[in-house]
Amino acid sequence: MSIAFIAFIDLAAQQRRIRPQLDAAIARVLDHGGYVMGPEVRDFEAKLAAFGQAKLALSCANGTDAIALPLMAWDVGAGDAVFCPSFTFTATPEVVPWVGAEPVFVDVLADTFNIDPVKLEAAIVSIKAEGRLVPKVVIAVDLFGQPADYPALRAICDRHGLKLISDSAQGFGCTLHGHHPIHWADATTTSFFPAKPLGGYGDGGAVLMNDAALWERMDSLRVHGKAVASDLNGRVFEHDPKYLNARIGMNSRLDTIQAAILIEKLAIFAEEIGMRQVVADRYAEGLKGSVLSTPKVIDGGVSVWAQYVIEHENRDGLAAHLKTQGVPSAVYYPVPMHKQEPYAGFPAPNGLPVTEALAEKVIALPMHPYMDEATQSVIIDAVKGFNG
Ligand SMILES: Cc1ncc(COP(=O)(O)O)c(C=O)c1O
Repeated sequence: MSIAFIAFIDLAAQQRRIRPQLDAAIARVLDHGGYVMGPEVRDFEAKLAAFGQAKLALSCANGTDAIALPLMAWDVGAGDAVFCPSFTFTATPEVVPWVGAEPVFVDVLADTFNIDPVKLEAAIVSIKAEGRLVPKVVIAVDLFGQPADYPALRAICDRHGLKLISDSAQGFGCTLHGHHPIHWADATTTSFFPAKPLGGYGDGGAVLMNDAALWERMDSLRVHGKAVASDLNGRVFEHDPKYLNARIGMNSRLDTIQAAILIEKLAIFAEEIGMRQVVADRYAEGLKGSVLSTPKVIDGGVSVWAQYVIEHENRDGLAAHLKTQGVPSAVYYPVPMHKQEPYAGFPAPNGLPVTEALAEKVIALPMHPYMDEATQSVIIDAVKGFNG
């Protein structure tokens, strides 16, 4: 059967479904005119925190700033080590040198592609023994939508006195044994980039946490280090406290219009996660035995399937074949972070053999909640029809 056009991610299908709600939400913002930090921002933060089982959420301009904000709030800086995978999007390690610290790259597990707890602890021990850097933070990534091994990571962070961030830009909404990552992490970060499972219509991000002092400090940092209640501490400043700067911050706010849009998208997000699982199950069933491997989700985990990533010996051949069949695909990530020029000088204490092998084999197939069975059959048949 022929299908006119196969989208890698079909954002239009969702928009068709909720367009009247989106139009009304945007119109409300145009009517009240509070374009920056308007009422929808706090409303969305409250709803996002509730969804993610966190006490608090703080929105910001994008998912990259969302990782930088807790590092800044914890005063991570020169001489500090921040452990993270190399098999991730650039934003994960990128923010670490922003604050003057160094990313330390850790290998991932071959089955889930998430940070390997055993190798993490070995890396912490190596960095401590070397003595040049002080271990401070671990950034785990919920790669392609599934939770990292948080119970193991929390135990390691507790043993070594480290903070734990879950970079859930791809995984917001994922759970492990019924808990969202913030059950274990000190901060969970996410991105509302349009293609993310919970994506807006532009850039946006958020941090979830249970610590009110952390929220307040990041509230200051996202608005140029404005003075917040604990800075004033009873003192009276006769002008607007946002013009009293208590620290060096940045400008990282979520636009009110994005918050208004995201409130509508969050309302259907739980259902969409279920729809993504149906698509993932159909892939797993349809591709059985025909590829090197279909994704394995950690025991007790629920993925939000930001990407459906398979492995194939001849990945590039498969991608070329799929293109001839009108099936789009993508490679996340062809060059791991430690092999990228700006990151080549940072430590990777015990080597990254799994990461390097995965970069050669992974290929992502079209994935979104609104994929119909006929379209998916075309994709599955195209993959199976490759004899390379
Ligand atoms: C794992 C990961 N972390 C962080 C980000 C950064 O998010 P943003 O593009 O909103 O800055 C992304 C996505 O872009 C990502 O995939």
